Amino acid sequence: MTTPRKVYLETLGCQMNFNDSEVMLGLLQKEGFESVDDKSQADLLIVNTCQIRGSAEDKAFSHLGMWGKLKAKNPQIKIAMAGCVAQQNKESIFKRAPYVDIVFGTQNIHELPELVRQAFNGDNRVLAVDRQKARSTYDYLTDIAPVRENDISAWVTIIEGCDYFCTYCVVPYTRGRQISRTPESIIREVFQLAAHGFKEITLLGQTVDSYGKDFTDRTYGLAELLYELHEIEGIERIRFMTSHPLDLTDRIIDAVAELPKVMEYIHIPMQAGDDEILARMRRGYTSQQYYDLVNKIYDRIPNVAVSGDYIVGFPGETDEQFQRTVESVALSGIHNANTAAYSPRKQTPAAFWEQRGEEVPEAVKEERLQILIGEIREQSLKKNLPYANQRVEVLVEGKSKRNAERLTGRTRTNKVVNFEALLSEDALVGQLIEVEITEVLPFSLIGKMVVPEPALGLAKR
Ligand code: SAH
Ligand code: SF4
Ligand code: F3S
Repeated sequence: MTTPRKVYLETLGCQMNFNDSEVMLGLLQKEGFESVDDKSQADLLIVNTCQIRGSAEDKAFSHLGMWGKLKAKNPQIKIAMAGCVAQQNKESIFKRAPYVDIVFGTQNIHELPELVRQAFNGDNRVLAVDRQKARSTYDYLTDIAPVRENDISAWVTIIEGCDYFCTYCVVPYTRGRQISRTPESIIREVFQLAAHGFKEITLLGQTVDSYGKDFTDRTYGLAELLYELHEIEGIERIRFMTSHPLDLTDRIIDAVAELPKVMEYIHIPMQAGDDEILARMRRGYTSQQYYDLVNKIYDRIPNVAVSGDYIVGFPGETDEQFQRTVESVALSGIHNANTAAYSPRKQTPAAFWEQRGEEVPEAVKEERLQILIGEIREQSLKKNLPYANQRVEVLVEGKSKRNAERLTGRTRTNKVVNFEALLSEDALVGQLIEVEITEVLPFSLIGKMVVPEPALGLAKR
């Protein structure tokens, strides 16, 4: 057997999947693999999949279909499916896509080198989808060196799975029950990141603020973790996402307010504005409770931005109920939100309600989606207006995608700023600088760099 050397990895889905993919590449690099952008050169093709909506799942299979054709020409290639679709469909993937060699689940990432070895040694249909019930997958990975997308800002997964079982959502089935990674393992990784020059970390979890609730040997949560990570020299910015409204405690809010390195940005989805729909989604809060929480966040944390997610066209959603979602955008005062049309997911109660005849027609879903996006655009612009002529702290990420003359970065409140720089990209990437905002758009800000000195203890904004 010739030694396989090149891997092509396609990632779909949420930031947790992107972080998992970085870890997979790190593990494969140790095995002698090199990551390539051209799939026709690869010996090993991996798709890390997402199951959250039908469209994401379709994408996963469309990649596999194309790769099956590559394999027909070059049978040496090995094809692997990872992530949430693999976890939920397990061995049935081999039936649907017989050219797949490896199927591995969301909690088997640490086994990847062994699985790849087996496949290249000629084993057929290598399967690893058992859940690690005792500890987080990331706790098996103490000496990994993820291959990160950049060397400024890093994802750090701190909690896997979810215990909420919202009636529309597949995550508890694909990621399993909540398992928090130990603080020791997280702190060790963040120390390594700081040593490698990373400036920003984003702590990840489907319900990141539930972190630690499953520990039986200690009382330790996200607030405690934020205080400890704040002490790590070199790390300048700390974010966390996604929060669940029921777990965002006063202690966490206070930590964000008190700790200068913790950014004034909280992503905390409401999902719907109508109480009956919220109850049927099994979200565990009413619209008023959500408004009260966001008001508390705005009261306690100066200049904070709150953002969220919404689903439209949930089974049985009436025009009136949808209208309450539209109204909730202004009532909650959120800065921005992701939106999605409801997509039925197998195993979930809401998919059953759809089948029972409560389905909102696709055309209505699409129409509601456009109305909601319009409302969010207006709200987002309104929330951006006060930034005009203000100076903001920006962590510089690189060249702007739309305009090569400009650099791009984010404010403390996670707003994208494209700006005219006074120095070269090389001199500024990874630096905290001050930018004066000259133009305000709904989903970004435009500005001009003010002072070249990095990180001069700029005021919180
Ligand atoms: N844990 C987070 C969200 C995780 S999933 C929370 O509780 O809010 C990311 C987003 O995908 C959700 O916020 C929701 O808006 C969307 N989503 C989840 N399931 C969906 C489905 N079946 N159809 C459409 N959108 C869905
Ligand atoms: Fe899904 Fe989030 Fe609900 Fe968990 S809390 S079931 S991840 S929507
Ligand atoms: Fe998708 Fe799995 Fe993330 S379903 S959104 S990749 S947790």
